[in-house]
Amino acid sequence: MSALVTQEPAADLLHRYSFPQSDCSQIPYGMYRDPDIYALEQEKIFRGPVWNYLALECEVPKPGDFRVIAVGDTPVIVNRAKDGSIHAVVNRCAHRGATVQRQLHGNTKVHTCCYHQWSFDLTGKLVGIPFQRGVNGIGGLPADFDKSCHSLQRLRIETLNGVIFGTFSDETAPLVEFLDVPFVTQLKRLFHKPVRVLGYQRQRIFGNWKLYSENLRDPNHGGLLHMFQITFGIARLNGKGGATLDSEGKHNMSWAAQGGRKDGEPEPAKDAGYGDTGRGDMNIKLRDPSLLTYRHEYPDDLTLTIASIFPNCCFQQIGNTLAIRQFRTTSADECEVVSTFYGYEDDDEGMARHRLRMANLAGPAGLVSMEDGEAVELVHRAIVRDTDKHSVVAFGGVGAVKDQENLVTDVPMRGFWIHYCKLMGIETGASA
Ligand SMILES: [Fe+2]
Repeated sequence: MSALVTQEPAADLLHRYSFPQSDCSQIPYGMYRDPDIYALEQEKIFRGPVWNYLALECEVPKPGDFRVIAVGDTPVIVNRAKDGSIHAVVNRCAHRGATVQRQLHGNTKVHTCCYHQWSFDLTGKLVGIPFQRGVNGIGGLPADFDKSCHSLQRLRIETLNGVIFGTFSDETAPLVEFLDVPFVTQLKRLFHKPVRVLGYQRQRIFGNWKLYSENLRDPNHGGLLHMFQITFGIARLNGKGGATLDSEGKHNMSWAAQGGRKDGEPEPAKDAGYGDTGRGDMNIKLRDPSLLTYRHEYPDDLTLTIASIFPNCCFQQIGNTLAIRQFRTTSADECEVVSTFYGYEDDDEGMARHRLRMANLAGPAGLVSMEDGEAVELVHRAIVRDTDKHSVVAFGGVGAVKDQENLVTDVPMRGFWIHYCKLMGIETGASA
């Protein structure tokens, strides 16, 4: 026999955990494992005033092409209609709520639900109901049943340079306003010419999605946790790098650059600052260093850019490896990282292979990214109790959130949390 579930009023939930500091330099552990918080996030964050990354236009190039994705934990179909326009609809039949499109991707004229064969066109309009009038005038739906009132639920979409975003909310500001200048600039940099997908990776992580959001906004760990990165100099904490935020601090681009030092500025010793850490043997050499050779391709010296867009995706450039990572929410205790690796349409075979070779750095078994999934799980496992205790977010200083010109910082994490609390309606700087 199942237990009765009582719905707690939202007001109580909003005070269940305390953020003692208004700058979000202390995060209560309970925020990561509470299913009520998770449910509220689906409403306030993923269906709130945000643009969620959906797909790339090049993934649905022809009329009828579709991909099944997710916004938060809501299943969504993105497809291209006959007239070439792109649409996003909830993948849930308007009849009994069943999953309509069960393939991950493909091409179709209509989406037909297998349960009772209701079919929907590529704009989400209900176009077919078998036996609507019954048989010989008996059975079927009432005569006044209006198909036009039973479309698939639609999302509002906007695209930028071939990147498709969607929102459930009418309140969401225009996409370029939401992204803000640094992130419009970064997307235009990455998608300055047509792209093509090179492949996908999916990874289940048994940890809360916000721990993954934090990981991406934490340049500090990049030069400590990731031994491969430290050893071979991809991004050391003593190197040139920083973090760029939007005006609200909700997005973050962690970046590192090769060369480009100001005149007279000395190159730090490779192991400067690492003396006591035991991290990285700077004398180890790769037998095949071409794995890490950066082929210059942008009009700047940025070799590593991890642009995290609130709430749950990032556009990454690790050398010449280009990918979009979205960490889809499944429950408070699990997320799935879906990575889309891409290159440019005009890449020659050598460049495409180089991007794929370098892709060994990323993904679930990546020479760099492998540890991130483990770190998320290490935290999630250990914070099962003492939900009123707090983690510390103070590298780079507390107080106002602003751009960082170094990598020993986790300020962008606070930017994420400040915006998150604003959308959730959680008061910060006050005790529970
Ligand atoms: Fe990492």
